Amino acid sequence: MSQDQQKRAAAQAALDFIEPGEIVGVGTGSTTNFFIDALASVKGKVDGVIASSQASADRLQALGLPVLDLNRTGDLSLYVDGADEANAHLQLIKGGGGALTREKIVASASRRFVCIIDASKLSDHLGSFPLPVEVIPMAQSLVARKLIAMGGQPELRIDCTTDNGNVILDVRNLDLTDPLTMESQINLLAGVVDNGLFAARRADVLLVGRDDGVNQMTI
Ligand code: A5P
Repeated sequence: MSQDQQKRAAAQAALDFIEPGEIVGVGTGSTTNFFIDALASVKGKVDGVIASSQASADRLQALGLPVLDLNRTGDLSLYVDGADEANAHLQLIKGGGGALTREKIVASASRRFVCIIDASKLSDHLGSFPLPVEVIPMAQSLVARKLIAMGGQPELRIDCTTDNGNVILDVRNLDLTDPLTMESQINLLAGVVDNGLFAARRADVLLVGRDDGVNQMTI
């Protein structure tokens, strides 16, 4: 199976987690786009969706799915999204598409987070994918210096403004052996909005598209 076929298979498998009449949280990225397309084929089954980015909202709307406001829906039962990297504890690095803050908000509002990935995203230790950190623009240099002091190598993502009007620093070389601690330490830096470690709110179910089908991992 190609990588896209693995993504599509994982996305398709996530449909089984939808209960009729619920509002589904929907993430961002190429794997989630396969999920959005699959969701459109069963759109009568859901009452609406919450999107984690403008890009996903646009795609959902174009396919006729009602995009709702999280401030009006309250908590959700299900969130489906991809990841850039995942470990066996279902901790993730996300934000390759720059939507990490809204993704973490929707994940936090959801009782179950089903993460859909292709097999290349699984790793023993998080850190091969540079960690995205969303930063308020005036704090860009300050936060970069603090991240360097923490052992990281930050790089400003060029031509990227998030849906929240901020910038992204992609950080290599941080010690992510304790993702939970690193997630909160980075978020304590003044000017940081959030970072792409999903450890405090990791996935509950990981659907991994492989050559021989979809493997389901849970915690
Ligand atoms: C978006 O900001 C990200 O968190 C995506 O979920 C992540 O980058 C995975 O994207 P792909 O499915 O395109 O690999």
